[in-house]
Amino acid sequence: MIGTGYVGLVSGTCFADIGNQVICVDKDTNKINKLNLGKSPIYEPGLNELIKKNYQAKRLIFTTDIEKAINQSDIIFICVGTPSKKGSLKVDLSYVMSCVREILRFTKKKKIIITKSTVPVGTGDIIESILKKRKKLFSVISNPEFLREGEAIRDFKFPDRIVIGSNDKKIFTIMKNLYLPLINKGAKFLVTSRRGAELIKYASNAFLATKITFINELANLCEKAGVNIEDISLGMGSDSRIGSRFLRAGPPYGGSCFPKDTKGLISAAEKYKIKLPVVKTVIKSNQNRIHLLIKRINKILGNNLKNKKISILGVTFKPNTDDMRDSSSLKIIPYLCKKGASVNYYDPSGEKKDFSKIKNCFFKKDIKENCKNSNLVILLTEWDEFKSIDFKKIIKNKRIKIFDLRNLYNTEEMKKSKIEYYSIGRPNSN
Ligand code: NAD
Ligand code: UGA
Repeated sequence: MIGTGYVGLVSGTCFADIGNQVICVDKDTNKINKLNLGKSPIYEPGLNELIKKNYQAKRLIFTTDIEKAINQSDIIFICVGTPSKKGSLKVDLSYVMSCVREILRFTKKKKIIITKSTVPVGTGDIIESILKKRKKLFSVISNPEFLREGEAIRDFKFPDRIVIGSNDKKIFTIMKNLYLPLINKGAKFLVTSRRGAELIKYASNAFLATKITFINELANLCEKAGVNIEDISLGMGSDSRIGSRFLRAGPPYGGSCFPKDTKGLISAAEKYKIKLPVVKTVIKSNQNRIHLLIKRINKILGNNLKNKKISILGVTFKPNTDDMRDSSSLKIIPYLCKKGASVNYYDPSGEKKDFSKIKNCFFKKDIKENCKNSNLVILLTEWDEFKSIDFKKIIKNKRIKIFDLRNLYNTEEMKKSKIEYYSIGRPNSN
């Protein structure tokens, strides 16, 4: 596995756990040192234990020595980042291409090269053309990854589908054998062309992002029309053609993938002179959503944020991860502080360096410390430990206001507790 991040480390560890010999290589020495001390550099439930188990069983090796890793492997998964280029919709493939050059340099015998990184349609062809000098040594295939952070081990071990894209049909048998333990447990094994597999990944992420954006827009309508968005999600989602998942309204979708992959899909389509107006609108609507939420925070606090004490619960883009990439908190917290508010935040995954330089922004070590004496508590990420907080007990301020961006709490109960409660897409949630 080249690249030992959220995907490379989880996939590598899980492949080891189903009996393979795995070498995880990364150019980040700190990461590899940490892993060799038995500690995961990322927070992902269950991962530490699984790493320890497979490391001790000598099925899992961590190294910065890419030459050794390449030489000792039959199958090489490229799992490095594919972020958006700064200020552009285009995908930055420089990390992938640098791996390809190293593979070309160090390979001595036949290898299967697999892109697990999310790459635009046609990238496999570019990789193949770079490797063409020694074509006989390589098969280049696409095997996109569909795991979610926070649920990564379960998603990897029990995937809905495994997608293999290859122009060389012989490869399908090898890949099927590799994934057999998962296929035996019910995972669908889908084979397609290499370009097909690359595009399936972008299409899936863009569609899920569209679903979330759709329900978020509907939540805006519900707030005005006096309807509960959860009824709409349930009513729509019960239609098996629509499906109930990814219909939870909330802040704009974030994370390391939906924002960049929706953009990446548009830029890949532009290469073929194809416009994707639906996806374009999704990106725009998602970007606008943060402004709507900021407007509501202002309204809740009487359009005066100066000297207000605001507490944030959860700053990661979703629960059960330490990942901050494209989290709403990165926009909301700096804005509030700039407008003169004093912001406390608490996140179960710990303090974040992203806020260390912001004046009047303080990490608190627990929920109580974080929320006491606040004018407003904003719930941003739905971690389990936020689900049953007795706000009346911990906030000394008698006029408690809560803005629940994940609809974690019950409107009636909040009313009974005399808490001024605001949520998303519910009657009177404005
Ligand atoms: P990440 O940033 O967490 O990890 C990437 C790792 O690659 C880093 O540790 C980096 O040091 C290493 N790296 C970069 N260049 C290298 C090189 N030349 N040699 C060795 N190591 C190198 O990224 P991630 O979140 O794991 O995502 C990786 C890819 O998988 C992306 O294309 C992403 O879109 C895709 N993906 C991510 C997820 C997810 O949940 N994060 C899910 C599915 C697919
Ligand atoms: C997402 C996809 O779900 C994975 O299948 C994919 O492999 C991955 O991207 C990737 O390509 O990296 P991830 O970003 O880890 O996984 O997390 P999700 O659970 O999809 O959440 C993404 C964002 O959507 C979060 O901000 C989350 O809060 C938001 N979301 C999700 C909603 O607002 N409502 C929902 O109903 C679901």
